[in-house]
Amino acid sequence: MKFKYVLALETSCDDTSVAIVRHDGFVEKVLSADQDLVHEPFGGVVPEIASRNHTLQVLPLVEKCLNESTIKWEAIDGIAVTSRPGLVGSLIVGLVTAKTLSLTQGIPFLGVNHLEGHLLAPFLKDNEFSPPDEFAFPYVALAISGGHTQLYWVESHGKYRVLGKTLDDAAGEAFDKFAKLVGLGFPGGVAVDRLAKSGKRDRFHFPRALIHEKNLNFSFSGLKTAAQNEIAKMSEKQIQGEIQNLCASYQEAIVDALMNKLGKAVEQMGARRAIVTGGVSANSRLREVVSSWAQSKSLQVVIPPIRYCTDNAAMIGYAGILRFNRGEFSEATLAPSPRSYQDDFIEGVSR
Ligand code: KG4
Ligand code: ZN
Repeated sequence: MKFKYVLALETSCDDTSVAIVRHDGFVEKVLSADQDLVHEPFGGVVPEIASRNHTLQVLPLVEKCLNESTIKWEAIDGIAVTSRPGLVGSLIVGLVTAKTLSLTQGIPFLGVNHLEGHLLAPFLKDNEFSPPDEFAFPYVALAISGGHTQLYWVESHGKYRVLGKTLDDAAGEAFDKFAKLVGLGFPGGVAVDRLAKSGKRDRFHFPRALIHEKNLNFSFSGLKTAAQNEIAKMSEKQIQGEIQNLCASYQEAIVDALMNKLGKAVEQMGARRAIVTGGVSANSRLREVVSSWAQSKSLQVVIPPIRYCTDNAAMIGYAGILRFNRGEFSEATLAPSPRSYQDDFIEGVSR
């Protein structure tokens, strides 16, 4: 049987998202509810609070999604749900919802790897956006968010090679920790980006870890410590006076480290195409640097619209429907997993 439409659920971290996606990547409807306000006082995502909020948000979102779409239950062939990696308490909410809807509607469900969703996001389209016609496999993917920072070689559907990853903090985490340090709230990436626009990028020198090494790994924990040490030397008044410069210099260190490894990955793989995805790809300085780099190297680089870069169910729906149409589905015993399965990705450069 050919699947035409799926309902998709994403609850792996702190965003609750529901979507209806067509087999060719067209997003009929996507609705998301973030939880930034409830986690803000804690300066980070509190897993127990995240799961509790998913339980409150997921079913109303499913109902709203179906009400607001022309596609109704009768047309939906299956349910795709993020089952890994992520916070187990959060994943359980989506998974139990998917299993229940699968039983009540009499349609199959499929557990999807969240990262596969990010990697396939450039194929998503809607009435306002579609990827360039000639966009296709293979490509290098830089996935950067609050929870992950990885480089992949996306060879074809289902064949993803991990080229490199962060050895400690994720890029988004590095932004958020710095924002917290200088009192900009959580999540702080957007605030740093905004203030950096009027700051001097070379006012402070922050380290770019591992950029002289051939490998494609990242490390951001030293950067955070360097910023901490710099700030410890300053009075509150000095910090406020230098806040734009601090943001611009810190942001530049992250952008430089990301670009260094993205450039190396493209070179090593002889790639003609690349994508940048995940919440940090919203960063305006990174977008500027990526687009001039792409032009200078005659590369095709796709950064999906922000709504498909941050955690969303549309990308899970597309990854799921491709697999449903290859005959895959999950058993009712499927459990959530905090980590990816070993065969989700090919590790290392040669295999
Ligand atoms: O993909 P995402 O929505 O979900 C998580 O993995 O949590 O990414 C959120 C991350 C946060 O760390 C946030 O600070 C960062 O993306 N972020 C940004 C910007 N917008 C969001 N970082 C830098 N500049 C931005 N404009
Ligand atoms: Zn994500």
